Amino acid sequence: MFGWLPNYAQAVCARQSAPAHVMNLLAVFLLFAPMALALHSGGLAPWRPLNDNNKVPSFGLGTWLGFSDKGRVEPQGHEVEDAVAWAIDAGYRHIDTAHIYDTEDQVGRAIKKKIDDGTVKREDLFVTTKLWNDAHAREAVEPALRRSLQKLGLKYIDLYLIHWPVGTYANNSFDSTDYVDTWQGMIAAKEKGLTRSIGVSNFNQQQLERLIKASNVKPAMLQVELNLNLQQPSLLAYCRSQDILVTAYTPFGSLFPSKAKPDAPPPRVDDPELVSIAGKYNKTVPQIALRYLWELGVTPIPKSITRSRVEQNIQIFDFGLSAEERKKLAAFDRGYRTIDVKWWRESPHYPFEKN
Ligand SMILES: NC(=O)c1ccc[n+]([C@@H]2O[C@H](COP(=O)([O-])OP(=O)(O)OC[C@H]3O[C@@H](n4cnc5c(N)ncnc54)[C@H](OP(=O)(O)O)[C@@H]3O)[C@@H](O)[C@H]2O)c1
Ligand SMILES: *[C@@H]1O[C@H](CO)[C@@H](O)[C@H](O)[C@H]1NC(C)=O
Ligand SMILES: *[C@@H]1O[C@H](CO)[C@@H](O)[C@H](O)[C@H]1NC(C)=O
Repeated sequence: MFGWLPNYAQAVCARQSAPAHVMNLLAVFLLFAPMALALHSGGLAPWRPLNDNNKVPSFGLGTWLGFSDKGRVEPQGHEVEDAVAWAIDAGYRHIDTAHIYDTEDQVGRAIKKKIDDGTVKREDLFVTTKLWNDAHAREAVEPALRRSLQKLGLKYIDLYLIHWPVGTYANNSFDSTDYVDTWQGMIAAKEKGLTRSIGVSNFNQQQLERLIKASNVKPAMLQVELNLNLQQPSLLAYCRSQDILVTAYTPFGSLFPSKAKPDAPPPRVDDPELVSIAGKYNKTVPQIALRYLWELGVTPIPKSITRSRVEQNIQIFDFGLSAEERKKLAAFDRGYRTIDVKWWRESPHYPFEKN
């Protein structure tokens, strides 16, 4: 089908009387460049279908800077902007942010840069952001989403999530607005074309069931904590039965000693069993953890602002774990949460175990 290409290359080269090897190189480039570009614009991770006829890249970049021992880490310079640009160069096509992370502006600048330099088009990317707890009133949803779009510099996002079922006012007291009402605001925002898909985050199964019963628009995505210590098999089975895809946040859990609380169960990154599996595939332990989650059918969104890690984390599509290895990894499940938001325990919509 590209038979004419080498001839064309030959003609061009002949006119410039280039040596034969340059001619051959050019022919090879013309032959494979279109294929390489096609592969590149879709990114490294396969896309999966959502229940609303859209699709989502099955691997993404997280952009929440998290907590240090001094409290919440505030974005300062262009650390997230750089990470997002490296990620897109490395084949990521799915970026996860949220109003509350304060990184939407940096995410937006990176996206603009990578579209302007021709690496990707807007439609090659899948951008998620989230509605914060202080905008749960039905009529507060659209203005909140418009503020996010402005920070991102985008006309639409691909996925808008209710960040938590819990509502809170700016003064930190609970807003008891029912998330079923918030969901009506989400549906309206989707109908206006401000977001392609809508979903929820940190909802438990009972809350999902209630939401589905109360409306005729199912969430396309549930984003929850999922890692070796918190594998949530029954929630995953429920979502599968409802055709709801799951995104895995905090995919590394307590793998890194610097991040693990003193009471956190194993494994750590030097766990001999994990090190041995990693060695077998010439991969790192973080890559093994991410591949395991991906094989569960969920979409991991590891965060890193370190270039080598951003690049390393997505290199999980050239190997697969054996059934025996998956069994070993499944045994690390302890139902242990790293993000338990106990401070919202008194909310009528607190989603987790209260003990
Ligand atoms: N919906 C929600 O309520 C919710 C809650 C939490 C998180 N999230 C989303 O999920 C994303 C990921 O979760 P997370 O940020 O909590 O945790 P995470 O992705 O599990 O871990 C991030 C930490 O791991 C380090 N890291 C990344 N790759 C590494 C590697 N290959 N080797 C060693 N260390 C590595 C990062 O360090 P460096 O950055 O310094 O490289 C960072 O300290 C968030 O960014 C956010 O987008 C959503
Ligand atoms: C907090 O703010 C809400 C909404 O403005 C208000 O109704 C409530 O009375 C406030 N609570 C306190 C303790 O100030
Ligand atoms: C192992 O992985 C590293 C990093 O991806 C790579 O540079 C190296 O060539 C690999 N080694 C083998 C034997 O495949």
